[in-house]
Amino acid sequence: MKVYHSKPGEIIDAFGKGDICVAVYGLGKMGLPIAAVFADKGANVVGVDIDKNVVSKINSGKNYVQGEPGLSKLVKRNVEVGRLSATADAIGAAKKSDVMIVIVPTFLDEHNKPDLSLVISVCKDISKGLKPGDFVISESTLPPKTTADVILPILEQSDLKLGDFGLAHCPERTSSGRAIKDILGAYPKIVGGVDKKSTETAKAIYTVINKRGVIEVSDATTAEAVKVFEGIYRDVNIALSNQLAIVCKELGINAIETFNIANTQPYSHLHMPGCGVGGHCIPVYPYFITKTVESDTSLLNLSRKVNDYMAQYTVEIAEDELNRAGCKLKGSNVLILGVTYRGDVKETRCSPAVSIINILKSKGSNVFSWDPLLKKEVEEFGAIYSRLNEIEDIDAIILASDHKEFKNLNWDEIGKRMRNKIVVDGRGILDADLLRSSGFKVLYVGGFFKETQN
Ligand SMILES: NC(=O)c1ccc[n+]([C@@H]2O[C@H](COP(=O)([O-])OP(=O)(O)OC[C@H]3O[C@@H](n4cnc5c(N)ncnc54)[C@H](O)[C@@H]3O)[C@@H](O)[C@H]2O)c1
Repeated sequence: MKVYHSKPGEIIDAFGKGDICVAVYGLGKMGLPIAAVFADKGANVVGVDIDKNVVSKINSGKNYVQGEPGLSKLVKRNVEVGRLSATADAIGAAKKSDVMIVIVPTFLDEHNKPDLSLVISVCKDISKGLKPGDFVISESTLPPKTTADVILPILEQSDLKLGDFGLAHCPERTSSGRAIKDILGAYPKIVGGVDKKSTETAKAIYTVINKRGVIEVSDATTAEAVKVFEGIYRDVNIALSNQLAIVCKELGINAIETFNIANTQPYSHLHMPGCGVGGHCIPVYPYFITKTVESDTSLLNLSRKVNDYMAQYTVEIAEDELNRAGCKLKGSNVLILGVTYRGDVKETRCSPAVSIINILKSKGSNVFSWDPLLKKEVEEFGAIYSRLNEIEDIDAIILASDHKEFKNLNWDEIGKRMRNKIVVDGRGILDADLLRSSGFKVLYVGGFFKETQN
């Protein structure tokens, strides 16, 4: 079907009749859920991935992405009825598809400059199979202007021009662990075409899958900026809370109490301070602006600096307390509780826990770690894997992930295995009174020293 040359109503009907072929490039944590949802809504979907294991798993009806409720069922059901398959043949997939969705990762290079090489490589493949009436969608998070200034010229290397085919940016607004729910409509889908017809076409396509509906924006660049700005908003506001929490320590007041009361006024939204910001979104997206524009972005740069400093600050809290107990960080045994950047999600990219491990090791500590989601894999980050019932002579615990399991630990038992009963809670989730009743000294990141007030 020539999607871009069809009317919105025709596109919506065609999904129901199974007349649309969609190629999804990148069958990762986000690409596979999108592919499975489009197939479930009636499209014939071919997922494209360079990883042959991923391709063969999907073709046997197996979901390999863990921790995504509903995904396994969707993959199995749609592979069985022949609506979902996978291939490593990127050009072949473009040749037989009407809609091509790009959802490969974007990274930063060693200078924090956006690395768009995977997106560029996929778009080159698509351009070799592009036909009149095709519609290309970028869903990968991109620096503003990438769709119009980078992707469009690559697609036009096909000899077709915009107008022969359409192109829109429709950013993925999902989080790991809730991808299906998010794709089906936790938030409206943002669509921005490089021309008006592309915006209309994208709107028709996502109306089929998103029950919250679609927000049309002026152009692809606006759509790119919406997604990147969402992440930057978080980074800057978290930095504000982190810095104010450090100020609270100097003032001798409780940061959480202060923030909560300030937030009773509707214009204040102070976040929870903590040991740092991780993941592939929030600490990354500011650079999609700071490294690509000429305007002053000093606030964004400073926020990155403040949030990156929180790992060091967390270690300093532990070090001060160890010194008060007559110990040195050098030679001490420190246990990191939780290595993932988010609670209950098995993801470690840019995790502050990894920075904390590195700082502790550089200061001569022996670093141990326990994360119920990672097990032995924590050793990749240089910490010694240690089950909680195996630890011995620990001098300080630093909690760096807010896993639910950590709220119900047996602190009496843990305390028996510690030399100094010091806990630094980098996520503010522990019950300080409970720990104190087990003889612990409990410290919170960001100047929240309840004990000094009592
Ligand atoms: N994971 C998240 O929580 C999340 C949330 C919102 C947005 N996003 C965005 O979604 C995009 C994809 O992220 P992800 O988490 O799904 O990535 P991922 O790392 O889980 O998966 C990427 C997949 O792409 C494949 N791939 C790499 N190069 C390829 C190529 N040239 N052709 C085909 N396949 C290729 C890889 O083999 C892998 O299977 C990123 O831009 C990210 O910013 C991710």
